[in-house]
Amino acid sequence: MKVSAEVCPLCEGTGWKAVSKGVERRVSRCDCQLRARAQSLLEAGRIPKRYEHCELTEFDTRFEGAHPALERALLEAKAFVASYPVETTGVLLIGNIGVGKTHLAVGIMKELILNKGTACLFYDYRELLKEIQNSYNDSVKVTELEVLRPVFESEVLVLDELGAVKPTEWVWDTVSLILNTRYNNNRTTIITTNFDDKPAGAVAGPRGAAREETLGDRIGERMRSRLHEMCRTIKLEGSDFRQKFRSASFRFRLQSA
Ligand SMILES: Nc1ncnc2c1ncn2[C@@H]1O[C@H](COP(=O)(O)OP(=O)(O)OP(=O)(O)O)[C@@H](O)[C@H]1O
Ligand SMILES: [Mg+2]
Ligand SMILES: [Zn+2]
Repeated sequence: MKVSAEVCPLCEGTGWKAVSKGVERRVSRCDCQLRARAQSLLEAGRIPKRYEHCELTEFDTRFEGAHPALERALLEAKAFVASYPVETTGVLLIGNIGVGKTHLAVGIMKELILNKGTACLFYDYRELLKEIQNSYNDSVKVTELEVLRPVFESEVLVLDELGAVKPTEWVWDTVSLILNTRYNNNRTTIITTNFDDKPAGAVAGPRGAAREETLGDRIGERMRSRLHEMCRTIKLEGSDFRQKFRSASFRFRLQSA
């Protein structure tokens, strides 16, 4: 007799497990099914290797002493997860380079996948536009719609580094198409950017903004105002975690040398 090591002892491979509540007996989806779904959602989510480690529980808000802005940002990220999908308004994570915007976005995404079974998709804005542009090339087999369909349809989309491509008419049209389609279909979008959320032509700043241009300059005023309808803003303030971490490990190396 061939005994498969993979048969789940809880459900014996049926996918359903018995649950009793007092005298009442019912069945529910077995844990192995939920785990398998989470695993395939994680694989389909396209989280870049570099960010695979990012979890909300690993987000440190005290690495340089108490930091109220980071604490608030983390609380807001957790509140978003807790109220999804009753509340479908997305989030716009704004802040300087290295403050942890992508970390929080991926952390949210992973909690939604693991705890709520939500289908999520991660895309770097530059990569996405490059893939779409590539699809116009005759030698490339994938069509524009094939690239865009999951971006339009994913329950939750993380669009990382919005505005990071030099704006052209085509860039603006493409961003409008993506954001408007998701808006019209009532889909949730999580966005990160290090451009100031100010109108086109405004002076970025005041506190050492990462960029001189504003979000309005980069995606156009109409899309910036659409974003405000689609997302709640979470502002991150603080220093570049990468720099801190690097200098800390450098000091550590010096001390232990
Ligand atoms: N508060 C934090 N606690 C733990 N790790 C952090 C924190 N902030 C940032 N990191 C880590 O530092 C690195 C840089 O953070 P992240 O990429 O999220 O920054 P970012 O704001 O998206 O920067 P950029 O503007 O360059 O995209 C990541 O590896 C991330 O996991
Ligand atoms: Mg980032
Ligand atoms: Zn099972």
